[in-house]
Amino acid sequence: MALDIITTIDETRRRLDEARSDGLRVGFVPTMGFLHDGHASLMRAAAGDNDVVMASIFVNPLQFAEEEDLDDYPRDLEADAVLAEESGVDILCVPDVEEMYPGGPVLTTVSVEEISSRWEGATRPTHFAGVATVVTKLFNIAGPSRAYFGEKDFQQLAVIRRMVADLSIPVEVIGCPIVREQDGLAMSSRNSYLDPEQRAAAPVLRRALGAGLAAIDHGATDPVAVVRVMTGFIKEEPLVELDYAAAVDAATLETPDQLTGEIRLMIAAQVGRPRLIDNVGATITPTS
Ligand code: PAJ
Repeated sequence: MALDIITTIDETRRRLDEARSDGLRVGFVPTMGFLHDGHASLMRAAAGDNDVVMASIFVNPLQFAEEEDLDDYPRDLEADAVLAEESGVDILCVPDVEEMYPGGPVLTTVSVEEISSRWEGATRPTHFAGVATVVTKLFNIAGPSRAYFGEKDFQQLAVIRRMVADLSIPVEVIGCPIVREQDGLAMSSRNSYLDPEQRAAAPVLRRALGAGLAAIDHGATDPVAVVRVMTGFIKEEPLVELDYAAAVDAATLETPDQLTGEIRLMIAAQVGRPRLIDNVGATITPTS
């Protein structure tokens, strides 16, 4: 099937209703565009699991704070359409702000308490309500059987999973692994803001996470000790300003007394203009 670019909610619904009435299963990949191989990996996963793939490109004003980069968030619809088609997308929904929020900001919002307030939420207090609201809206437009999110935004994935469970939204949420550049930097649309020096410094995030993992491999189970190892690595790199390093339970994103079971190491740092985030997972089996 060739890629169709659709700009209205009604036409998107009509196309997907048609597909569903033919018994086809819809896979959905929400994005903000300026697509890279991380996005493409979600699209390929969706194409593998479903009969029809819808992706959306919508730079959602609700999830940006006033001082953030809404107005100059990078955009390239032509290149995005090529990558989406190559990655198995059938329908690319590209609504504008007026189509999504006619008459201004919505009065109805979805917010997922607690899990939204720490880590990213501490620095960006309105961010996850903006994400949860637009994702709910996009789910209502797409009516997907499955929706695909990257582990790159691990807290976002946790927020969406919790929202879907709490509100009994009939969609299966699939988390996909982080796609990285060769030097370990997690792919991100905002990497385009880095100058060459900052770009060279940025992989320290992945190296710090790796050092945290190595400490765990050597038996560390105290989250404070693991965070200290990661922080030490970041401090070596003057162009990178640490926001937080955390060693948390992968389901609750809370810091436990002792690391055990499925855990996640997470880092956020300012590198020049962009704030970069990254994370890795580990399973710690208790020794008795
Ligand atoms: P965006 O940043 O465009 O990301 C869209 C999806 O791609 C998210 O699920 C994100 O986790 C995933 N992704 C980004 N970089 C990735 C990488 N290097 N490897 C794997 N997956 C990656 O996240 C958003 O948009 C928005 O918040 C959105 C969910 C669309 C709501 O507006």
